[in-house]
Amino acid sequence: MIKILFVCLGNICRSPMAEFILKDMVKKENLENKFIIHSAATSSSTSGEDMYEEAKIKLKENQITYTKHKARKILQSDYEKYDYIIGMDDNNIKDILYVIKEDKNKKVYKLLDFTKKPRDILDPWYTGNFTKAYDDIKIGCQSLLNYLINLKQF
Ligand code: 4NP
Repeated sequence: MIKILFVCLGNICRSPMAEFILKDMVKKENLENKFIIHSAATSSSTSGEDMYEEAKIKLKENQITYTKHKARKILQSDYEKYDYIIGMDDNNIKDILYVIKEDKNKKVYKLLDFTKKPRDILDPWYTGNFTKAYDDIKIGCQSLLNYLINLKQF
């Protein structure tokens, strides 16, 4: 079982989009029973909130199924529970490391590190560009899944 925790600042836009996009990809590959995929925030300011409406609209437009979501902050204990802790931008990585203290098993990555062009996924909460965020998250999730399929030879 591969356990993945996606992380962003608020856990209401990028990380739940990544969660539901990767769940959709894994389902289409018939690998649902091999993965546990969740998401969390680095901030507690949005704790308990559902996914932001514009993020839901993007998922709907692209026929990605989603379920009711409840934002929560990452905990230090998540480090032991997950195999991969995947942030969206450099600030997320800094904030994740602050919570977990030390990445002793090299579990922390940025989502676009798995692509040929590593970079940040800009926060659509501030840019207003949910299309760009969706497109980058989709590229990141596809690259991550390809990497894991190669690594694990399911
Ligand atoms: P996210 O976007 O990190 O992609 O979920 C944000 C959503 C809400 C806030 C910040 C970022 N906020 O400050 O409320």
